[in-house]
Amino acid sequence: MSTLTKKRVAILISGRGSNMSALLAAAADPDYPAEIVGVVSDKADAAGLGIAAARGVPAQAIARADHASKDAHDAAIDAALTKLDAEIVALAGYMRLLTAPFVEKWQGRMINIHPALLPSLKGLDTHRRALEAGMRVHGCTVHFVTPEMDDGPIIAQAAVPVMLGDDEDALAARVLKAEHRLYPKALRLVAEGKVRMQGGRAVFSGLAEDPAGEASSLFSPGALRDAVDLEALARFTP
Ligand code: GAR
Repeated sequence: MSTLTKKRVAILISGRGSNMSALLAAAADPDYPAEIVGVVSDKADAAGLGIAAARGVPAQAIARADHASKDAHDAAIDAALTKLDAEIVALAGYMRLLTAPFVEKWQGRMINIHPALLPSLKGLDTHRRALEAGMRVHGCTVHFVTPEMDDGPIIAQAAVPVMLGDDEDALAARVLKAEHRLYPKALRLVAEGKVRMQGGRAVFSGLAEDPAGEASSLFSPGALRDAVDLEALARFTP
């Protein structure tokens, strides 16, 4: 039996719920420092609700249409989170901007995943815009949520190459795979207290640096990768 005290995490979704599924899968590990105590959707027909319920996680819809205002809607969500005794809120494809009072109440305890390397490409249609801009590297970001959309302190990012033949769907699929790997790792950092929001920044502690990280770069187009001789780079002193 593990003696780990797990942080209580609630997930907010609006649709498919694949990032939610990645968090649920990670949290199934007895050594993971967080448990998923509930899932809330602002859409009654979100596919993710059924997936969560099938895994035995309490899942409920709190629809915007059933509330007189945005404030009333967010207050109902806040009440549900409080009832779940949530300590951390993870937005996973929650596609509605939250009101400032709600965000301020949960600030430092609420995180989001965005399908782009912030602060580039905030908002919608990130994959189409990355292709239109001719970017050769794209990716995803997990960040603390602040009242401005897609604007909070960055916790973690994963980069993927934009391949020469990519269309929007191919690029989105590659980024989504990276999202599913990144989000559980980022939530782990938050749950373990290894990253905190302080003075408007993400502040890290107790994290070992990866010495291999300094020499590693993602080259795109991929053909350029051959040109990098890592041993020569290690010998290089400017
Ligand atoms: C994900 O790609 C997520 O990063 C994005 O919506 C998708 C939800 O998919 N979120 C945003 O664009 C928020 N700005 P999912 O429901 O399968 O996790």
